[in-house]
Amino acid sequence: MSDIITVKNLVEVYSDGTKAVDDISFSVAEGEFFGFLGPNGAGKSTTIKILTTLLRKTSGTVTVAGFDVEKQAAAIRRIIGVQSQDTTVDGDLTGRENIMLQGHFHQMKTDEIKKRVNELLKLVGLEEAAEKRARNYSGGMKKRLDLATALVHKPKILFLDEPTTGLDPQSRSAIWTYLEKLNREEGITIFLTTQYLEEADKLCKRLSIIDKGKIVASGSPAELKREIGADSIRISLENCKKDNAKAKELIKTLNDVNEIIDSEECLTVFAKNAGLLIADIVRALDSSDIRIASVTFSSPSLDDVFIKHTGKRIRTEELVKAPSAMLGGRR
Ligand SMILES: Nc1ncnc2c1ncn2[C@@H]1O[C@H](COP(=O)(O)OP(=O)(O)O)[C@@H](O)[C@H]1O
Ligand SMILES: [Mg+2]
Repeated sequence: MSDIITVKNLVEVYSDGTKAVDDISFSVAEGEFFGFLGPNGAGKSTTIKILTTLLRKTSGTVTVAGFDVEKQAAAIRRIIGVQSQDTTVDGDLTGRENIMLQGHFHQMKTDEIKKRVNELLKLVGLEEAAEKRARNYSGGMKKRLDLATALVHKPKILFLDEPTTGLDPQSRSAIWTYLEKLNREEGITIFLTTQYLEEADKLCKRLSIIDKGKIVASGSPAELKREIGADSIRISLENCKKDNAKAKELIKTLNDVNEIIDSEECLTVFAKNAGLLIADIVRALDSSDIRIASVTFSSPSLDDVFIKHTGKRIRTEELVKAPSAMLGGRR
């Protein structure tokens, strides 16, 4: 399949000198579900803004559907749908009116828009709430409405910037279902950014992991996990600040340990025979009076891939807490 997005040596330096994107290259095939996985501040939104012609790049070459992002921006805008990280829903309008308005922006005919709006309300499960003002929608409903408005003109390529961040698990899995359906049944190419490892793992056929403006790994989720070539053991110590370094030294001396990474809140040990090694680790730490809070052992996950390449974990726990914190602030 041919490439529908190509990015070569892309660099973005903001006017205050921040290098948000630092020489990245990747491509996305037509019809592919492609992911950009990375923590806050990694450069995901910056990249998506350049791809969708909303931001001028500092240097590099970027084409979308064969068009140059700067010289042929208008042609690109006609064939892409964009869901930005912040909601673009107009609270004074109903769900239906929000989608209609977007159709008018795309200069579609009114009859055509009406038909499309009904299809989209059904697709994202907002038929019953269609005539309610969007300001009364929940966070999950707003995100679904955002998705519907991005789809009104039947784009060939859909760009989604963290479409599920802050949503509860149920709303998140509803969005996953719509996105998989769009990709599978309508053949839309999807470029999605996320901080959720499990989201990238479930949805994306291929992904790049981005951290501090650089791509640190690319491949299918299965390929990336296979590259680790070992199981992972995660050890949290009761007093990690004090004991992590000492524990790391102790574990290093045990057999079968490939690598140990200290990401402050835990130690991740990559090892071939993890099941057997756990007992040795517990014994070694115990005999040195290092108290263990928890030990888990699993085949490699994208979390392990991220740790291996960056030495850090993506802290998704904080993201899940975000919505209630936000609500608290508004009351
Ligand atoms: N308009 C801007 N001016 C200066 N720095 C910015 C601007 N927008 C983003 N940044 C910085 O660029 C980096 C990447 O940001 P962003 O692309 O938003 O990351 P992500 O979407 O992965 O969280 C961060 O360090 C961020 O603070
Ligand atoms: Mg962002």
